[in-house]
Amino acid sequence: MNDRELLNIAQVASARAYVPYSKFPVGAALECSDGTIFTGCNVENSAIGCTICAERTAMVKAVSEGHTDFTRIAIYGEGENFCMPCGQCRQFMQEFAPDVEVLCAKGDGRYVSYRLRQLLPHAFELT
Ligand code: THU
Repeated sequence: MNDRELLNIAQVASARAYVPYSKFPVGAALECSDGTIFTGCNVENSAIGCTICAERTAMVKAVSEGHTDFTRIAIYGEGENFCMPCGQCRQFMQEFAPDVEVLCAKGDGRYVSYRLRQLLPHAFELT
């Protein structure tokens, strides 16, 4: 699957976002090394801190189904800026895939690509 196809899946997933507070839907498509794709969207809560981001939704779905080997994650948000993963999501991804490729798209469909190491250098590890 190419980057564009994975980003399209992320965009479709963003349509299921529950965002009554921010009105900012985000979608994620997480690719595993065996080719399995897990999608996620942001799910907000009136207790704002309970909100879960699209990336973590996808990761939790994957890990809870026994998948922990991740190769790429596509993130789509319809804003003017590239939809970059928040700090919490970066740390969450780092736990399983320190070198995962992160594709970050914006509303016009353009995207940028990074390795997680670039987005979270010198990450915390419990060692
Ligand atoms: N959001 C994500 O889904 N992923 C991120 O990495 C950053 C932020 C969501 C959380 C909230 O529902 C909305 O975007 C606005 O912050």
